[in-house]
Amino acid sequence: MSYKKFVEGLPKAELHLHIEGTFEPELMFEIAERNGVKTKYASVDALKNAYRFSNLQEFLDIYYEGAAVLLEKRDFYDLTAAYLKRVSTENVRHVEIFFDPQTHTDRGVAFSKVIEGILDALADGEKEFGITSRLIMSFLRHLSEEAAFKTLEEGLKYKDRIIGVGLDSSELGNPPSKFARVFAEAKKEGFLLMAHAGEEGPADYIWEALEVLDVDRIDHGNRCLDDDVLTAEISRRQIALTLCPLSNQKLQVCPDLTKHPVRKMLERNLLATIHSDDPAYFGGYMNANFLATAEALNLSRDELVRLAENGFKASFLDEAEKNRHIEAVRAYAENF
Ligand code: HPA
Ligand code: ZN
Repeated sequence: MSYKKFVEGLPKAELHLHIEGTFEPELMFEIAERNGVKTKYASVDALKNAYRFSNLQEFLDIYYEGAAVLLEKRDFYDLTAAYLKRVSTENVRHVEIFFDPQTHTDRGVAFSKVIEGILDALADGEKEFGITSRLIMSFLRHLSEEAAFKTLEEGLKYKDRIIGVGLDSSELGNPPSKFARVFAEAKKEGFLLMAHAGEEGPADYIWEALEVLDVDRIDHGNRCLDDDVLTAEISRRQIALTLCPLSNQKLQVCPDLTKHPVRKMLERNLLATIHSDDPAYFGGYMNANFLATAEALNLSRDELVRLAENGFKASFLDEAEKNRHIEAVRAYAENF
């Protein structure tokens, strides 16, 4: 089957997206110039050439470097607006996006500028494109528990506009349990919880995210199939795994997409979903991720439909909205 047309029209939900990871080189240079910030790279092409990674850390070093040109509320607005405009052409109907406040506050940029720029663009994006959204505040796990608590405190001022908290950055050596107390406090404040786990880290980190942090969703979770008891538990509780195939390929988590675990996960009745993580760095947004995975694994149309449905099922929309989107996915597939 030709996947391209089918994937393009399929209604999709993006649930694993770092807004800083949507920073396209062209926009990065434009913002650097207007802010009078020098970048290490002489041109857009030189920067794109640097996007070759042998692990997560190599990517993160470049990703934090790129984010350093973001200084003003307008920059965060433009970044988010550009992302929404882009995915409006891919039939993405709903987005739940991460932002990394510490990447900016540690450089002296006010939390308020970051979040207000993003929120204004999300509101305008809904008006212009009809894309609904939720915002997730992510803690950088290579930094301390104390720093995460400080970030949580800042986030509380925007409690009604932040749906949950996440955990990202360098996984190995920074297990979920390092943030047990921060997550307990965040839960008490009413935030939903998620954590990156089992991307480079072992299945044990996924256990910690589940049992110590009590997360509602696991980001990545690739390594869960290493542990049958864990797999059964995630299936029983229908905890979503937000997989990012092109990210996995580019960061050498799964260099060969024909070996990607997503099909096996569906076979094991896991609530697996497909997303784009940091699309400006990994070579593609939602459609590219669906397409690359479908081609590599020879996915059936039913499997693609299930993945799209799972995206809405695993979202933080209310039940009526989830059902409306799932019906739209089914109607699309029936009429295709
Ligand atoms: N993993 C961990 N941290 C991140 C990622 C990722 O894929 N993208 C942005 N921050
Ligand atoms: Zn991620």
